[in-house]
Amino acid sequence: MTLKILQFGTTGQLGVELLRQAPGHDVAVTALGRAEADLADPDAAAAQVRAHRPDVVVIAAAYTAVDLAETEGDLARTVNALTPGAIAAAAREAGAALINVSTDYVFDGDGGAPYAEDAPTNPLNAYGRTKLEGERTVAAANPRALNIRTSWVVSPHGKNFVKTMLRVAAAGNPLKVVDDQAGRPTSAGDLAGFILGLAPRLAAAPAGDPLFGTVHFANTGEVTWRDFAVEIFAQALGEAAPEVGGQRTADYVTPARRPLRATMDLGRLERVYGVTPRPWQAALADIVAELKG
Ligand SMILES: NC(=O)c1ccc[n+]([C@@H]2O[C@H](COP(=O)([O-])OP(=O)(O)OC[C@H]3O[C@@H](n4cnc5c(N)ncnc54)[C@H](OP(=O)(O)O)[C@@H]3O)[C@@H](O)[C@H]2O)c1
Repeated sequence: MTLKILQFGTTGQLGVELLRQAPGHDVAVTALGRAEADLADPDAAAAQVRAHRPDVVVIAAAYTAVDLAETEGDLARTVNALTPGAIAAAAREAGAALINVSTDYVFDGDGGAPYAEDAPTNPLNAYGRTKLEGERTVAAANPRALNIRTSWVVSPHGKNFVKTMLRVAAAGNPLKVVDDQAGRPTSAGDLAGFILGLAPRLAAAPAGDPLFGTVHFANTGEVTWRDFAVEIFAQALGEAAPEVGGQRTADYVTPARRPLRATMDLGRLERVYGVTPRPWQAALADIVAELKG
């Protein structure tokens, strides 16, 4: 029987990719944008779950403005923690499984990488704290919830590092990129494919199944932001690739602190879900190809 998915978020990187790929799966997706469900209103979001009675709920929207979250803490907390908790509770009442998406920024990146799912958390910024609280609110509200932590999300659309680098390079200005933060880039498309493939398995799984809990999903490999930029230019611009200088995090001041190396371990993804993502360079090649049209 066709699986009923209720998706929160239609315009972000992940939301767009889920909608693009859904036709390739046996799913009927109802997708709610901000106009139908503002995640600043937990009750309204929960009411949508009760109205639609899906098999699986996917929360693809979030407060993702990492620096702004330092000054908009209350809104970020509502969107990333309180509303996901309310959605998860309504999903439990409706008998629905829940997928919430979280971040590697729950880790402090201070020497413990690669981090397993049960490694100690210690977010360095307000965004990370709200996402960690969101993991806890959904897990507490619904025993059939899965928190998928991801990192450095990129895609051909929305706001992301690949598009920013290509825009800056096109402007012809000298480039300096942070070279002491490392992580795993993640294609929003690859993450969407994982979620859509997993949804029917979650719908069929009872509470207590190992598929629920927390899992890390990212493309394989690890890179610094500077070397990521170098590869983006090599793939997109070839011989015309600009020089990319390095910069230390300590010399690039932003309102929110970032972890130096919050790289996530992907072993549980392979062991429990049977999934091995492709290398980030291969995922990047698809994104670059689409951007070049
Ligand atoms: N981007 C990354 O590098 C990264 C890294 C680790 C984890 N994550 C997590 O991955 C997930 C997907 O991220 P993404 O990159 O796809 O995000 P994104 O491109 O920044 O999009 C955010 C989405 O959330 C929606 N949204 C924000 N506030 C909302 C509100 N109050 N009510 C309803 N919708 C709201 C936005 O809608 P509007 O268009 O209306 O603003 C947009 O659709 C998120 O949970 C994020 O925390 C992302």
